Amino acid sequence: MYSEAPPAIRVPQITVLDAGGQYCHLIARKVRDLGVYAEVRPSETPAAQLAGRRGLIISGGPSSVYDAGSPTVDPEIFQGRQAVLGICYGQQLMAHLLGGVVQKGVKGEYGLATLELDGGPKTALFTGLPERQQVWMSHRDLVTAVPAGFSNLAATSTCAIAAMAAPDRSLYAVQFHPEVVHTTEGKQILARFLFDVCGCVKDWDPRHRVALIEEDIRRTAGDRNVFFFVSGGVDSTVAFTLCLRALGPDRVRGIYVDTGLMREGETESVRRMFDLLGAGTVAIEHVEQQFLAPLALVRDPEQKRQIIGEEFVRVQERVIASHHLLDGHWILGQGTIYPDTIESGGTEKASVIKTHHNRVAGIQQLIAAQRIVEPLSAYYKDEVREIGCELGISEDVLQRHPFPGPGLAIRCLCAECSEPVSKTPDGYLIPVRSVGVQGDERSYAPVLALDRFPACDGILQNEATELINRVRGVNRVVARVASRIPLSEMRVWVSTLSVERLARLRSADAIVRRLSHASGFDRRVWQFPVVLIPMGSAAQPDAVVLRPIDSVDGMTAQSVAMDEPLLRLMAQALLEVEGICGVFYDLTHKPPATIEWE
Ligand code: XMP
Repeated sequence: MYSEAPPAIRVPQITVLDAGGQYCHLIARKVRDLGVYAEVRPSETPAAQLAGRRGLIISGGPSSVYDAGSPTVDPEIFQGRQAVLGICYGQQLMAHLLGGVVQKGVKGEYGLATLELDGGPKTALFTGLPERQQVWMSHRDLVTAVPAGFSNLAATSTCAIAAMAAPDRSLYAVQFHPEVVHTTEGKQILARFLFDVCGCVKDWDPRHRVALIEEDIRRTAGDRNVFFFVSGGVDSTVAFTLCLRALGPDRVRGIYVDTGLMREGETESVRRMFDLLGAGTVAIEHVEQQFLAPLALVRDPEQKRQIIGEEFVRVQERVIASHHLLDGHWILGQGTIYPDTIESGGTEKASVIKTHHNRVAGIQQLIAAQRIVEPLSAYYKDEVREIGCELGISEDVLQRHPFPGPGLAIRCLCAECSEPVSKTPDGYLIPVRSVGVQGDERSYAPVLALDRFPACDGILQNEATELINRVRGVNRVVARVASRIPLSEMRVWVSTLSVERLARLRSADAIVRRLSHASGFDRRVWQFPVVLIPMGSAAQPDAVVLRPIDSVDGMTAQSVAMDEPLLRLMAQALLEVEGICGVFYDLTHKPPATIEWE
């Protein structure tokens, strides 16, 4: 499902056609930053359904136009009824459909490049911009001949057709990504497309959002009340606060489920936070035993998720029944944000996650009856943060990193048998399996450990990518930061998701959060999972893995390097925790590893 535009926007001026790229949301976000509302639609949306748009942007994507079933667009969109900008795969698709030539690339080009304009009269896209500019490239295939009627506008050293246009038909395309910050003139290029080529007018002013959303909540709720399952995360907190403001505290109820899998101090901080927001109506359900008892002997990640999902269902059903929330006076509030509503952005696992949370019969009943309000479903995460800021929600809450529903359970790994680590020509093989994602497949494989300190230059991160491509059967590489015994003497120990190990992980996580907050490192990363693996000595059987990553939306991620003094400080504090023998650093990007270890 692709979400509807807010009521004040009758027909969006710009539609981003989603060709499967991780950046399609970023494009829409950047267009909105320029003051024009943009929506995202599937690339194949028929041209007739796009009537009235001033411009269309075809996003990038990982496919080749020659792959069977690769995303395409309705060729009618090129008939000049509105301007079109193709980005990356969008340029290749435009060339391919209009008679140009796309050459299948072998190696591709990833990273920074210098774009040189062709020196002739500039098209609207580049008016007033420097002849040479830095751009960011990420592509395999290339356009090698423009379609009839197009001219070549720019080149890089490895890409002869880096931009092309047929201005009389309002068709433009670029091989690089104007939406990422590394393309220095990217914002200007998008602005020229919006205002000079499409003739857009500004219709999106962040300052009007709160009033619009509140009006929408009142219209949807009518005379009914709203209840939320709140998590303490940014989205549900902002959505809940908007409902509180729109309807008043008597008509909004929040329920927080304490599963026993939360971080240190989480339940108290959620209680304090909702008190501060003026919600006297957040009930805390203490159900720790209900979760911890069935998890006590489970090791398999999917089984863990299954149990947690099922227990969530039970708790939600019980709460819904006991609070009479299915009678006609209540609707469900959810903190769903725009990327959550886009099916094509989801991964295999995203759909598993969704079924866990959505399959509660009571909730499905409410959704089917449209008894649901999702005030943030047209917004991106950073817009949600801005809205939260306007509502006076504290920075500490708004800058929180995402935390997964199954909590610490998917960051506490277990092993079925005791085994030593083994030396290989490439490093030490740790017989603890973690989850990865390679292509569309989930992998579940052992980890390779390097006995080298992870310097802050990120070099080991590059080596990790190369190693995983070369070494069969591993999907993740870590580096040893510090340990009480040499890596070669460590063993993996039989272990379960015990209360003791969860407490150990909770302490480690609290230390990392405290130090990364105090140093400002938490602002440099999108998320920072702390993982416990059952590897160490007999006396100290566990190790901590640090997994700071940067990401746009969690679907892909880059391992982020940390400065040495902070890393050493963190490692020293972690080695003081009872039972911790070593500290490791996850060097792997996603793909091939997932963010969570499970
Ligand atoms: P992975 O591990 O798949 O995670 O790379 C991607 C993002 O999703 C979060 N995540 C979850 N969030 N319920 C959630 O609410 C879940 O079951 C869940 N599993 C993973 C993860 O923290 C990361 O931000």
